[in-house]
Amino acid sequence: MSSAKLVFEGREIDLPVIRGTEGEIGIDVSKLRKETGLITLDDGYGNTGSCQSAITFIDGEKGILRYRGYPIEQIAERAQFTEVCYLLINGHRPTNEQLSKYRNDLTHHTLLHEDMKKFFEGYPPSAHPMAIMAAMVASLSTFYQDTPEEADLNIVRILAKSKTLAAFAYKKSIGQPIVYPRNDLSWQANFLRMMFAVPSEDYERSPVLEDALNLLLILHADHEQNCSTSTMRMVGSSEANLYASISAAICALWGPRHGGANQKVIEMLQQILERGGDLQSFLDRVKSREVRLMGFGHRVYKNFDPRAKLLKGAADRIFNELGIHDPLLDLAKQLEEAALRDSFFVERKLYPNVDFYSGIIYRAMGIPTEMFTVMFALGRLPGWIAHWKEMREDASGYRIHRPRQVYVGENAREFEPR
Ligand code: CMC
Repeated sequence: MSSAKLVFEGREIDLPVIRGTEGEIGIDVSKLRKETGLITLDDGYGNTGSCQSAITFIDGEKGILRYRGYPIEQIAERAQFTEVCYLLINGHRPTNEQLSKYRNDLTHHTLLHEDMKKFFEGYPPSAHPMAIMAAMVASLSTFYQDTPEEADLNIVRILAKSKTLAAFAYKKSIGQPIVYPRNDLSWQANFLRMMFAVPSEDYERSPVLEDALNLLLILHADHEQNCSTSTMRMVGSSEANLYASISAAICALWGPRHGGANQKVIEMLQQILERGGDLQSFLDRVKSREVRLMGFGHRVYKNFDPRAKLLKGAADRIFNELGIHDPLLDLAKQLEEAALRDSFFVERKLYPNVDFYSGIIYRAMGIPTEMFTVMFALGRLPGWIAHWKEMREDASGYRIHRPRQVYVGENAREFEPR
């Protein structure tokens, strides 16, 4: 094993180097403070590896994304979301038998405890569904025990019940009666029915919508140590239960720099349209740092986000199949082109990310803007769980996540009596 040398005040310290299976190199500083009293400082953790993980590989320079070694393009074309959940969480593809049992389990745990319905009644109609989701997921821990015997069952429960919670939150927000899940439907069909069926008429399934939802869920399923997944690991490292950890991850996802960007992209496009569609003046406002171009830029991708590429292609297909035309899609494409021609974005390697086109597709599917980040959360759930499980089952154990700081405040001073 090679090592790196750190020289500080004439002293030389050897630091072990860890090599990943795809060639990334990490300098292991875990003994640094113990041996030298020094710590590392890394604002926003841009240079910090918080763990070793075998779940998802990203090469941000080349625009590569793989789940458990499988390229995202192949998974997106060939898999169903439930298989991706199994793959991410268990580390391997299921056999046909395992998959059918898994689907069956995920279907048979979709009902919520009837008492939970009362919780939805307490929120004002304007309540953001992300707030309701976070609260409801945390509330699940009052119904189900966090015991080692129920660990796998709790994972199945949350994967199954999350879509019911999301659909109930939506129904509450529009004042419609809730629609119970059905066991004869796939994950996607069940969710869409709970969202859009009403008791007064028959609900017609749409394979186009089910396929679009499948693609969106898969593309959001994991993205290694992003803000919400790191939150999941951090909260989980204190031995908080699965539901509490997921609730915290949902809150982290909500922010507009993370999953909340999909809602903000639509609001941004609508504003541009309302102001006459002048792209150049909008880009000028971005460049003067008055606003950010939402759905653009990424901590890891310095090239096209492969998920954005897949969604841009899918958007045309889905719009054609649904027979829809949305001026926001045209505007988004023009905005992308204009930004990619502009040196401000080129120099900073800012490209469209997954949130740039996802909202436009959700809109075409009839999903309201406020639900977009909830949709992201439903997709990201297996990724959060996979990381939580990987950490908790690490044979070498795990420590509570507790970073250090460099204190820059007042030195000790007297607190004089008044
Ligand atoms: N619009 C305008 N300028 C930007 C943008 C943007 N969207 N993103 C980055 N920049 C500029 C930034 O001002 C900085 O410029 P300078 O070096 O001159 O100060 C430079 O690019 C580097 O940006 P950064 O903020 O240091 O990059 P970061 O890695 O800390 O942030 C980000 C990444 C995703 C938070 C950021 O690009 C951003 O705010 N994007 C808009 C929100 C968004 O679309 N978020 C979704 C991310 S993908 C899905 C997900 O994770 O949820």
